[in-house]
Amino acid sequence: MPVMLDAIDRIEDEVKEYHAGSAQEVEQFRIRFLGKKGVLAELFREFREVPTDQKKEVGQRINELKHLISSRVDEMLAVFSTETESEESRDLTLPGPTLPAGARHPVSIVRNHIIEIFSRQGFTVSEGPEIEDDWHVFSALNFPPDHPARDMQDTFFISRAPDILLRTHTSSVQVRVMEKQKPPIRTISPGRVFRNEAISARAHCIFHQVEGLFIDEDVSFADLKQILLYFVNEMFGRDVSVRLRPSYFPFTEPSAEMDISCRICGGKGCNVCKYTGWLEILGCGMVDPNVLSSTGIDPRKYTGYAFGMGIERVAMLKYQVRDLRLYFENDVRFLEQFRAAY
Ligand code: DAH
Repeated sequence: MPVMLDAIDRIEDEVKEYHAGSAQEVEQFRIRFLGKKGVLAELFREFREVPTDQKKEVGQRINELKHLISSRVDEMLAVFSTETESEESRDLTLPGPTLPAGARHPVSIVRNHIIEIFSRQGFTVSEGPEIEDDWHVFSALNFPPDHPARDMQDTFFISRAPDILLRTHTSSVQVRVMEKQKPPIRTISPGRVFRNEAISARAHCIFHQVEGLFIDEDVSFADLKQILLYFVNEMFGRDVSVRLRPSYFPFTEPSAEMDISCRICGGKGCNVCKYTGWLEILGCGMVDPNVLSSTGIDPRKYTGYAFGMGIERVAMLKYQVRDLRLYFENDVRFLEQFRAAY
């Protein structure tokens, strides 16, 4: 019998009888037998000197041994893989791993901040349904029957005649509040709105608005201007100024759009404000007497103001993130950058 076969037999017995006490010992075993300078490598080296007529038999035995060792290593590792530490080395007094803290979405941060600012001035929060009827989104808000905003291009209709649709603005909540409550009314209504638009950096088919409404005796345009200036100073800082431009909305008369001075260039003009020094932030006006009448409030006794702003728009101005899509993709790398008290 060739000498080498003797040696192989002995190694085989040793491998079969071996029992490792830990994953570390399995590793030592693996290195000892399968390592570069291990037992098996030595056998292959000696194999070169084996006479040709014995090569076939010896070669076969070495290969069998190699397989045996590999499967023993796998077998033993499986036992220890769930138990990498031994019981004695585990320190039970160590503090547990800290849980990663989540962050609020920037839209939620800004919404909460807006609510907080207005609630300091006595505004309550009211909400309404996202699926609405024509009355609350358009008719009660003085939209003429052929107004383009009712068009299929803007509005997602769920059914026609009777028209059931996804609200295109939170002004619908104004109507619901006025129908239910008697003045004085002082409320803001945050919520999701829907428009049938192609998604781009500047437009999205879903976004968020906050509506504001104040109805009482003797409410004037000066009150509106005052509350909006207060809001802007709280949200963006004392050094930000505002201007009102005449505008048109069916539900307010007179109507205006408000701009704030550009925070990037301080009003001097840059590419963010398109060299005007101003950025548009919201629409507002005095509640149209027709809207008061259609919700059962006497326009001879009461007046009121209303305003509506896009939350993403405020977030863009606050954080200088100018691609709307980022607010909806939920990429954690984007979201993790926002930490706030609100
Ligand atoms: N609903 C308007 C829009 O979606 C925003 C708006 C403008 C709301 C003027 C108001 C307002 O309450 O008075 O564009």
